Amino acid sequence: MTEIKIPDTTNWGEPDWGIRVPPRDGGGIDLRDCFVGQAGEVPEDAPPHWGLAQRGSVVDPHTPHFDFPVNKKAVVWAENIADLVEQAKAGKWDATTDIPWQDLKPLPEDLERATCQICTFMIQNEYLALYLPAKLLTRVDPRFTEVILFLASQVDDEARHVEVFTKRALANGGGLQYVSAATEWSLKSLLNQEDFTSASFLLHILGEGTFMELLMFLEEVAPDPVTAQIFKLARQDEGRHVGYGVSHLTYHLKHDPALVLQLYQAAEARAAFLRQAAGASPFVQHALAVLAGGGSAPEQVAEGRERVRELYREMHATRVKRLVQVGFQRGMAERISNLHGGAVPNFM
Ligand SMILES: [Fe+2]
Ligand SMILES: [Fe+2]
Repeated sequence: MTEIKIPDTTNWGEPDWGIRVPPRDGGGIDLRDCFVGQAGEVPEDAPPHWGLAQRGSVVDPHTPHFDFPVNKKAVVWAENIADLVEQAKAGKWDATTDIPWQDLKPLPEDLERATCQICTFMIQNEYLALYLPAKLLTRVDPRFTEVILFLASQVDDEARHVEVFTKRALANGGGLQYVSAATEWSLKSLLNQEDFTSASFLLHILGEGTFMELLMFLEEVAPDPVTAQIFKLARQDEGRHVGYGVSHLTYHLKHDPALVLQLYQAAEARAAFLRQAAGASPFVQHALAVLAGGGSAPEQVAEGRERVRELYREMHATRVKRLVQVGFQRGMAERISNLHGGAVPNFM
C-alpha cells in the first residue's frame, strides 16, 4: 500500500481544535451558539479562494475561484440572521397533515369560486417568491452561511405555499381558475431583477410586506375556518421573510446611507414599467370583493369593494411604517409606498 502523503500546510493557517459548542437545555445545538473560533468570524469581504469551504476551514491556497458575485457582508447580513434561521425551522408545517382538510364543508358556489380564484392568484405570487430568492441564493458567497440557510428556508416555505394553495383550489368542488397577463407581467418584472439589493428590497420589503397584509385580510374574510387557517399559516411564514428584509436592509443602510437613492430608483423603475405593462387582475379584484362582501349579490360586491379600498389604505400606512423602520426618511417612505401602491394593484 502506498503511503498517504499529507501536503505541507505550513503556510495555510492553523485549524481550530478543542471547540465544544454545548447543546442548549433540551434544545439541541443552536445556530446562535455557533459563532465560535474561526467559524464564528464573518468576513466583511468573502475571500474568492475559499470556494465552497465553511468559514473556519483551512483552505488549500490552490482552490479554484468560484467568484460568487454577492460577497460583501454589508449587502446580505442581518444582526438576527441566526435567530431567523432557527425560527424558520421551528415554524415549519406540513400542507398534507397540518391543515384540517377533513373539516372543509361545501360552500355556496360564488364563495368557492372566489376562493379558488384567489388561490390561483396566490400560487402565481408564491412561485415568484420561490424563484426569486432561489436565484439570489446561488449568487451569495457561502461564507455567509446563515444567509444561505435562511434563503433556503424561504424557498422551502414558498414551495409549501404553492402546495397548500393548489390543494385548497382542488379540495372543495371548485378547481384552478383564471390567470391574468397583467399579474404575470408584474411578477416577471420582479423575477427579472438581477441586483441582490434591489431585488431583495422589492421582494422582501415592498412585495412580501404588502402580501402579508393581503393574507391577514384574507384570513379575516375567508368563507370557512379551514381556508382561514391556510392564510394564517402562510402569513406567519411571510413574517419571517419580511423580517429578514427589514433586518438586512437596516444593516445595509447603516453601512451605506447612499443606498436610499438606488432603492428609490428600483421602486420607480418598476412602477414605470408596471404603469404601461400591467394593471390589476379583474378576476382577483372581483374575487376579493365577493369574499369581503360575503357573496356575489350586487350590494355584497359593493360592500366588499369598500372593504378592499380600506385594505389598500392600510397597506400604504404599513408600508410607510416599515420603510421608516428600515431607515428611510418619512417623505421618501411615502413616495416609495405610493409608487408601489399606485402601480402595483397586484400586491407583490
Ligand atoms: Fe409565500
Ligand atoms: Fe414569502
